[in-house]
Amino acid sequence: MKTKSLKKVLAISGSTRKNSTNLQLVKAFAAMADGHLEVEIFNELDTLPHFNPDLDDKPPAIIKSFRKKVQQADGVLICSPEYVFSLPGSLKNALEWMVSTTFFSGKPVALITAAARGLKAHESLQLIMKTIEASFTDDTVLLIQGIQGKITPDGEFKDAKAQQQLEKLTTAFTALVQEEK
Ligand SMILES: Cc1cc2nc3c(=O)[nH]c(=O)nc-3n(C[C@H](O)[C@H](O)[C@H](O)COP(=O)(O)O)c2cc1C
Repeated sequence: MKTKSLKKVLAISGSTRKNSTNLQLVKAFAAMADGHLEVEIFNELDTLPHFNPDLDDKPPAIIKSFRKKVQQADGVLICSPEYVFSLPGSLKNALEWMVSTTFFSGKPVALITAAARGLKAHESLQLIMKTIEASFTDDTVLLIQGIQGKITPDGEFKDAKAQQQLEKLTTAFTALVQEEK
């Protein structure tokens, strides 16, 4: 019997911290999507060089590789904290490298902000992704406030509502990814 190949999702953690709660959420998403999506976790934002418009046409190999991961993914999940009322610099940097490409155009995305408060970063992330024409719905965006009290560094949920919200987003995002192309 021919098995249907799974849609590919690149899941980016916006935090560079070893014990990151956002990384744990990304891992929980991958576990929830298991059997429905093929998830590749990207936890290396801190290895990407600073964006420089002069290098946009001939970027370093590591940027070519990052761009290719986005291009080849059927969907991209971004899960990020808020730093000083905005996106962490390393995530903003990665997105700046994507602006001149069309790789996010029409691409299904899920956008999670998990922080102490996170409202401004959540707003900013949605504005950026709208600007680069990514495709998302109200059901594929999620703000989780007070995240440090809701998931442990080992990935155990301490808050049932946060777990349910992530499950709901995973279901909606899987459907969005599967209906594309
Ligand atoms: C430099 C810095 C600035 C921060 N600024 C904010 C902020 O403006 N708003 C907020 O909600 N949380 C802020 N936080 C808290 C983080 O969002 C919170 O610690 C979050 O859990 C970090 O994500 P992580 O666990 O994935 O590393 C800040 C944390 C750091 C380290």
